[in-house]
Amino acid sequence: MDNRPIGIFDSGVGGLAVVKYIKKLLPNEDIVYLGDTARVPYGTRSRNIIEKYSIQDIKFLLSKSVKFVIAACGTASSILYGGYENNFSFHYSGIIKPTCDIAIKLSIKKKIGIIGTSATIKINKYQEYIKKYDKNINIYSQDCPLFVPLIENRFIEPRNKITSLMVEKYLEDMRGKIDTLILGCTHYPIIKSHIEDYFGKDINIVDSGFETAKFVENYLKKNNMNNYTKKIGEVFYYITDDKDSFGKTGSIFLDEDIFKNISVIDLDIF
Ligand code: DGL
Repeated sequence: MDNRPIGIFDSGVGGLAVVKYIKKLLPNEDIVYLGDTARVPYGTRSRNIIEKYSIQDIKFLLSKSVKFVIAACGTASSILYGGYENNFSFHYSGIIKPTCDIAIKLSIKKKIGIIGTSATIKINKYQEYIKKYDKNINIYSQDCPLFVPLIENRFIEPRNKITSLMVEKYLEDMRGKIDTLILGCTHYPIIKSHIEDYFGKDINIVDSGFETAKFVENYLKKNNMNNYTKKIGEVFYYITDDKDSFGKTGSIFLDEDIFKNISVIDLDIF
């Protein structure tokens, strides 16, 4: 048993896609969330900068005595220590392994689509992971750089016309070719309904938020690291800028008022 909180970070609101399911699957766990809103987006930046920011994010979470760190960010997951999930001195998961393992299982036709930030698609870690498992799987990848600003600016309600248009623009080349799609950036589950509307029921959509939360649930259980107290866990949100925007988007997505739990911090101390 381990009553310390779980630490989750992302550049902005994307990691809330993981928070949402950790709260459902592990309701007794406390969560420390860091959204680096002063420096979002990460996905258009260079490798060195993304690595530097991600390490600062992790240091901040470790300073809060978390028992497990989740890089709830496809971009950070692709870069941290080469994208591999097991050479850390603390308990850690990114989102690549949890999502790819499920996609490989679901894809009967061996045709998997991956969407992510420009950095994620360029760094190629999802693609490498899948090919290592089975080189006969066909992979179709596409970066969608305008999704993150749309989501951070709350163009997220179902059937939003601008978001639907962008989904069509980025995904049209994949339509009819894939049977499984990985939402390789944690922001994208926030507009999952738009992506589902575009593809109809034809394909499996792998939600990086849900699959990562599920992976962590299993990991904690296996390693006897759960919080077994009966009280409902709390989420402490830390962001690096603009409480108003994060609070609004987060409250809509999580369907609860999160404002009172948000603190603004300066990551420069790390
Ligand atoms: N949510 C992030 C990801 O999964 C980061 C998006 C960004 O900051 O560009 O890649």
